[in-house]
Amino acid sequence: MSNNPYYKQHWIDIEPERHEAYDQILAFHPAMEPLIRPLELAPGLHVLDVGSGPGHTAMELARRVAPSGRVTGVDINADFVERSNRRAQEAGLPAEFVRDGFPPLDFPDRSFDRVFCKNVLEYVDSAADTVAEMARVAATGGIVVATDSDWDMLALDTGAAGAELNDRVLGAAKSIALREPKIGRRLYGLFREAGLADVKVEVMAGADTLGRSTPMLRASMARYARDSGRVTEPEVDEWLANISRAMERGTFLLVLPQFIVRGVKR
Ligand SMILES: C[S@@+](CC[C@H](N)C(=O)[O-])C[C@H]1O[C@@H](n2cnc3c(N)ncnc32)[C@H](O)[C@@H]1O
Repeated sequence: MSNNPYYKQHWIDIEPERHEAYDQILAFHPAMEPLIRPLELAPGLHVLDVGSGPGHTAMELARRVAPSGRVTGVDINADFVERSNRRAQEAGLPAEFVRDGFPPLDFPDRSFDRVFCKNVLEYVDSAADTVAEMARVAATGGIVVATDSDWDMLALDTGAAGAELNDRVLGAAKSIALREPKIGRRLYGLFREAGLADVKVEVMAGADTLGRSTPMLRASMARYARDSGRVTEPEVDEWLANISRAMERGTFLLVLPQFIVRGVKR
């Protein structure tokens, strides 16, 4: 038995069903362009992807800095790291992945031109320490970008009858799976406190009416809610059935605002 808190352990142990879902949920998609645009990528840059997961975004970053630049990804999950290294090699992209938990980040001061972190900071022991580390490893004049959801701003509609159950199931899931559910709104202050300059915030809040987020609800949030013990198995089943019915009726809606924050290392 590990002594890790649940918000960390659920990334160290990922069951096959969730791995499959993450390959879908975390695939790179043109709609994600606003998340990486603030990095101002160009060939030749050396980029650190903090919490690189299955590596799809890191590979996209590598395409943009190739052939002379490179991407280093770091992640706590051994399978993600292994799969990412294999995929990058197969694709002939300049990206390498290492397994490590953070903070701290095990890299020298000022060693990257760009530092990127997407949908990770809600899971770490200290988001403030991690952002401070991201600032430390950025080169002078380098750009640091973090993009994250604000889970307390999540809006899900599966019909009026399901509203109370949505709140309870999502509340149960958040209570154990996230260290910092309000991370989106906190990023601006954390960047300022880390001494980053010229800090800018954008918010992307598209509405998912096609069910693109349902693998995340089914594979991750339902499992976390069950594991929390705060809702019963039949309640989680009913919640999932409400989502399916809303999809069938064509009334499903989910909005999860994504904060995009960039700063410059002085
Ligand atoms: C939601 S995924 C995002 C992955 C990737 N950034 C993306 O957007 O495709 C969160 C990632 O953070 C990693 N992670 C969470 N806590 C971590 C920690 N303390 N140290 C290292 N990696 C961590 C997980 O293993 C997982 O790959």
